[in-house]
Amino acid sequence: MRILIVGCGYVGLALGRRLSSSGAEVLGLRRQGDPDGAMAAAGIQPLCGDLTQPADLEAIPGDFDAVVCAVSSSRGGAEAYREVYLGGARNLIEWARHRRVGRMVSVSSTSVYSQTDGSWVTEDSPVEPAGETGRLLVATEQVFTEAHRAGLVATQIVRVAGIYGPGRGHLFQQFLAGQARREQSQGQNQGRWINMIHRDDVASALEAVMLRGDPGRTYNAVDDEPVLQGAFLEFLAQETGLPLPPVAEPMAGPSTRKRGTTHKRVSNRRLSEELGWKPRFPSYREGYAADIAACVANPGAV
Ligand SMILES: NC(=O)c1ccc[n+]([C@@H]2O[C@H](COP(=O)([O-])OP(=O)(O)OC[C@H]3O[C@@H](n4cnc5c(N)ncnc54)[C@H](OP(=O)(O)O)[C@@H]3O)[C@@H](O)[C@H]2O)c1
Repeated sequence: MRILIVGCGYVGLALGRRLSSSGAEVLGLRRQGDPDGAMAAAGIQPLCGDLTQPADLEAIPGDFDAVVCAVSSSRGGAEAYREVYLGGARNLIEWARHRRVGRMVSVSSTSVYSQTDGSWVTEDSPVEPAGETGRLLVATEQVFTEAHRAGLVATQIVRVAGIYGPGRGHLFQQFLAGQARREQSQGQNQGRWINMIHRDDVASALEAVMLRGDPGRTYNAVDDEPVLQGAFLEFLAQETGLPLPPVAEPMAGPSTRKRGTTHKRVSNRRLSEELGWKPRFPSYREGYAADIAACVANPGAV
């Protein structure tokens, strides 16, 4: 198979390493090329180019059995979302009209679900994000979905939960830095549900969707066990021996978080039942074991 990963960063590298080790020819695109040699070390052929520039896409050689779009907004706000996700999606679909592209998988986010009642959400649940960045992700998904409906290219959407893994994991990093706070929102003294997935399981989920998923279908990629924010912090405090973070001060104004203050449990049932996908790290307990062991062995080094 010949596969292109557009936006070959934290997730793209893990996916590319996995695909190239199973014999695929993998090309990875990012604006900076391969500055630290990570793509080459993962068996990925580096390409230097910007998804927002159609000429850069045109310069990519050949046809592809699959294209995975795992680009990120580089922590930018709504304007970056509009340019990179929405504009990038339109550029990719236009580019694919002049190539043979077997599949196109777009990485989206479970932040498109805005539920606040603690309910389970599936791919069929309503998608009505409150914030502008969430709405831009929905608009981006629609570009891919409509291209599939119009018969331009077979697309799939993968809505990914909060990613953690080596060097990543927002709440864990905050906890280690002593900056985490226990939220007591949504009328819960343990705070809201958080939904996570290890980087390596994102890679295996993307591979499963690309190889075995139905064209035109959307899949959630998340581990087996949502956890309440307070329970997760209690777990980290217990396992590391570090202090339990204090309770957060009530917020004065509306939340400025990109993901908003949602309270929902995201189901991976479609991915597991239809595609036989199983996470290697079914919950935060297995996924954080290595980082916690390193933290206990050498406090301050993680
Ligand atoms: N982090 C999370 O918790 C989370 C949760 C749900 C979904 N996601 C989604 O998962 C995807 C992958 O995330 P990640 O953590 O792997 O992101 P990442 O580490 O920031 O990697 C993204 C890559 O995209 C490249 N890139 C950015 N703009 C580009 C452009 N205009 N043209 C070409 N390449 C570009 C970046 O390299 P250059 O800077 O060199 O271009 C980088 O290598 C993103 O879509 C993200 O929104 C993330």
